[in-house]
Parts: sequence; C-alpha cells; structure tokens
Amino acid sequence: MRSRIFAIANQKGGVGKTTTTINLAASLALGDQTVLVVDMDPQGNLTSGVGQKGNHAPAGTIYEALTAESTPVAHDYIVPTCVSGLSLLPADHNLTGAEIELVSAARREQRLRLLLEQVRGRFDYILVDTPPSLGLLTLNTLVAADGVIIPVVCEYFALEGLAALTATLHQVKEAFNRNLEIAGVVLTMTDLRTNLGKEVAAEVQGVFGNKVFETPIPRNIRLGEAPGHGLPVILYDVRSKGAEAYLALAREFLACTRAAPLPAGGALRG
Ligand SMILES: Nc1ncnc2c1ncn2[C@@H]1O[C@H](COP(=O)(O)OP(=O)(O)OP(=O)(O)O)[C@@H](O)[C@H]1O
Ligand SMILES: [Mg+2]
Repeated sequence: MRSRIFAIANQKGGVGKTTTTINLAASLALGDQTVLVVDMDPQGNLTSGVGQKGNHAPAGTIYEALTAESTPVAHDYIVPTCVSGLSLLPADHNLTGAEIELVSAARREQRLRLLLEQVRGRFDYILVDTPPSLGLLTLNTLVAADGVIIPVVCEYFALEGLAALTATLHQVKEAFNRNLEIAGVVLTMTDLRTNLGKEVAAEVQGVFGNKVFETPIPRNIRLGEAPGHGLPVILYDVRSKGAEAYLALAREFLACTRAAPLPAGGALRG
C-alpha cells in the first residue's frame, strides 16, 4: 500500500477546509479505507472536531514532529480517534511557533513530506488540513501532497484569492513537487436552489471545468453542530443532508482517485 496524500487548501478563511477534511476522512474510513488526518493549523479545529482536543501521544503534537532536531518517528505522534480506521496527527496553538522557528531550519519546506513518507505504507489516504494562509505550514503540506482539494464557498467573491492559490500551486510544482495536481474543487455551503448558488457554481465550473466535484455540499446545520460534539457528522446525525453529501463526495472521490494512476516515487526535486 502506498498512501495518497491530499492537502485541503484555500488561504481564504472559513470556506469549509476543516469540515471537508473531517467528514471526507470519516466517510472514507466508513468505507473501509484506513485514513490518517493531519492537523497543520494552529487553530487545532481538526483535532477538536474529531474529539481529540488536548490529546496527543507522549512524543507530542505535529509541532514537536516538525521542529524535532533529529529525524522524528512519525508513528510516535499518531493517535487513534473514535472512528474505526481513522487516525490523527494532532495540533494545538504551539504550532503557531513553527512558522517562525522553521524559517532558519534545514529543509524547512520538506519537514512534513519526510514525516509522512514514513507512514505511506500504513494508510490508504492521508488528508492534511491547512490554515487560512499560504505560509510555511501550507507550503510544507503542498510539498508533501500528491493532490490538492480546494473547498470553495458558493457565494460572491468565491473566486477571489484563487488566482494566488493556483499560482502558489504552480510554483510548488515547479520547485519541489512535480506530482502536485488539483485533485478537485468542492463546492461548500451551497444552495443550488437559489440563483446566486447556481451562478457561482457555474462560475467556478467555468474556471476549473471537470475538476469540480459533482457532489455539492449544502449548508446544513448539523455540519456546523457536529464539531462542537467532537464528532464527524456521520456519527452525529447520519441521516442529515450534510452526512449524505459527504458520503456521496467520498464515493466520488474514491472513484476518481482509484481511476487515477499512482504517483511515481522519487518525483521530488530540490
Ligand atoms: N456545509 C456547511 N454547512 C453549515 N456550516 C458549515 C458547513 N461547512 C462548514 N460549516 C461551518 O462553517 C465554519 C467554517 O468552516 P470550517 O472551519 O470547516 O472552515 P475552514 O476553511 O477550515 O476555516 P479556517 O480557514 O478558519 O480554518 C465552521 O463553524 C463550520 O462548522
Ligand atoms: Mg480550518
């Protein structure tokens, strides 16, 4: 087994990156996939959203793993979650320091890649949640990833900032990671019954074409409530529209990632 690693990224805040990471990962785990989620955001929303706020292995959080002097053993930082088949590499607010501390470190943009390389044999999928910025934590994630999933909210200004994101993806691909591709764009908090929802969805499709996942994620109150209970929505309310949507997205994601060839090893430059 060689894991496929996906970054969930958009430097715009509050577009559903963490919600998509948690619920896509939990839906994949429900479909008998072994999944690791990695919290690369000092806000730690992914960690608390899977019920692990304040929890970490004795070795520490992703912060200790990224800033370790000698090569860290990735396995030592991974904790289980309440979802069978879903493991977590947690974060807390200390991760803010990594952005600064890593600036002068050797191979500063490769830290996460070197860490995750060690556990590629253990998981079918590794999903990495990123902060709302294009700083060193997001850069580390893009260097480690095979594909990027971009959540986009279906409202005005949805496309704002996406040019900066695609330019960054292009630069990372050129300099560090020639495998990096856009795996897909997820329309989040969508209401396709409204004209606005339809217009923005069409606009996003105009830019990203068939990269846009066919499954839109509706605005759904249960999706907003579930992280407060430390649960993915499929465990909080499996009958909700939000749970249905993420299960459908996971099916679509599985079909398209299985159809795509595995990335070649040793593709990294620099
Ligand atoms: N489809 C949805 N329906 C209703 N609420 C949602 C939906 N998706 C996300 N939310 C809520 O919207 C807020 C922002 O979502 P989320 O935290 O996933 O975004 P984010 O992109 O990770 O934010 P940040 O940039 O701060 O990391 C959260 O309170 C979340 O619970
Ligand atoms: Mg988030």
